[in-house]
Amino acid sequence: MKTYYLLILLLILSCKEKPKAQTPVEKAKVEIKQAVIADSAMVVSARAEASKIGAEILKMGGNAFDAVIATNMALALTYPNAGNLAGGGFMVYRTQFGEIGSLDYREKAPIASKKDMYLDKDGNVIPDKSSVGAMSVAVPGTVAGMFAMHEKFGSLPMEVILKPVIELAKKGYIITKHEAEDLVIYKPDFEKVNGETILYSENLKAGDTLKNEALANTLERISKNGRSEFYSGETAKKLVAFLKEKGGIITLKDLDAYEAQWRDPIVFQYKDLNIISMGPPSSGGICLAQILKMVEPFPISEYGHNSEKYIQVLAEAERRAYADRSYYLGDPDFVDNPADSLLSETYLSQRMENFSFENATPSSEIKPGVIIGYESPETTHFSIVDSFGNAVSVTTTLNSSFGSLLFVNELGFFLNNEMDDFSVKPGEPNVYGLVGGQANAIAPQKRMLSSMTPTIVEKDGKLWMVVGTPGGATIITSVAQTILNVYEFEMNMQQAVDAARFHHQWLPDAIRYEFERFSKDLIENLKIKGYPENLETDPIIGKVDAILKLPNGKLEGGADSRGDDSAIGY
Ligand code: DON
Repeated sequence: MKTYYLLILLLILSCKEKPKAQTPVEKAKVEIKQAVIADSAMVVSARAEASKIGAEILKMGGNAFDAVIATNMALALTYPNAGNLAGGGFMVYRTQFGEIGSLDYREKAPIASKKDMYLDKDGNVIPDKSSVGAMSVAVPGTVAGMFAMHEKFGSLPMEVILKPVIELAKKGYIITKHEAEDLVIYKPDFEKVNGETILYSENLKAGDTLKNEALANTLERISKNGRSEFYSGETAKKLVAFLKEKGGIITLKDLDAYEAQWRDPIVFQYKDLNIISMGPPSSGGICLAQILKMVEPFPISEYGHNSEKYIQVLAEAERRAYADRSYYLGDPDFVDNPADSLLSETYLSQRMENFSFENATPSSEIKPGVIIGYESPETTHFSIVDSFGNAVSVTTTLNSSFGSLLFVNELGFFLNNEMDDFSVKPGEPNVYGLVGGQANAIAPQKRMLSSMTPTIVEKDGKLWMVVGTPGGATIITSVAQTILNVYEFEMNMQQAVDAARFHHQWLPDAIRYEFERFSKDLIENLKIKGYPENLETDPIIGKVDAILKLPNGKLEGGADSRGDDSAIGY
């Protein structure tokens, strides 16, 4: 924990003048990353090994989509908290020709799911059932997603793309300090949930080399047999047998029926920016659009970065957007998401009509907005730009850190706990404190609502920024702040991802601030105005990985200093 505080201190300092010789800074030896500038191509991801493998694929002549697959699989090896084969995610892209689109490879509820599967006979939520172990696992979408993008855009053969990851899994990668600290914390849970030791519970220290032969074998089979290896082949059979033994309900029929979906992204304007983000089943694009459109009329650059007025305006917009999220949004294959109504200028300006700088609008007074004609009915992000000009923004997850905590020793990967992103009972908060209702209720083969917000921003019709982050409910507000940091507060990409963040999500009615990065006076003044502080929180919010295209055509990477994130370009 101590390291966190020192890191946070460092981050504050990095955004101001560089201090001369600050002892805590020197003692901590935490590296605040410098903005990385590249001439033509770049990968920014949660781990140096993954960014390096992605960049190697680009150098070999592969395009950004090939690099996504390699980076994703490298993260499954080197960042098992969130990198995955048995999770899901979203990709937003903009090709070198300016074509845009998005791919949904979000997990789905198993066919045998029931609306009340996480409730006891009295209708109470059974603790941990939707978030830990076999019952929390949803049908994985990642491998289908990788093959769908390869089929449409891939330029190198899959064997070539997977080869460096397979080699690294066999050779082993070096455990970082962050990872070693994490593994100590999770070791008892790993052993409890799995009932045996797993690869990651073997007392690994920073600097140790970890090989994952089982993952290398799984990837070799996928490389040889293609998509069907994971959804109906040997891997599928082993996975289903494993889950059955652990008390899960996923069958071969579930795996066989899984398909990734190409979907229209959410596209909106903020001043002269054109923002392209993920639509349902992610709430990310719609909420991001609502927040930015609600703050657009306010002169926020005049208020100053993280000033009282800026925090008020943004928090109030966030409160209103998250209230709508809780009620209206869900899997578009099951519910009607009223995106047009939620994004209409009239609706959004009406939504902010009762905002005042004098006092907070209590969340109890904010209900989901009324829309005419509406009938009720540890994640990781990486950003890639290739030398051809294709840009890809990918956020992928197992949901919680290490997902369900179940690790399939024989296959070499963790399983997601994405079922917890459903609203397991109306009004009952999930692991991120988010509440939901009918639109996000569990149903067989339905996708659970997400906050993941992979985003691409255009300026003057050209690529400007590729951005996204993990962080559960805080993803949307972190992406919004990162865009505003560059556009309104003129930070460079690295400063923008490192700058202190805050977050409001309607319920609980409180602002979450990154630990010790906002002055006590500011927090007190906001409390007086009716903005309580949310104290039940992690010290950090999100880990943003982004790329900015500079006016001279070069690429500037922002790899969040909060983690082991790394920007590699050439
Ligand atoms: O899809 C979602 O919104 C969540 N499953 C994301 C989880 C996440 O970001 C965890 N990372 N810190």
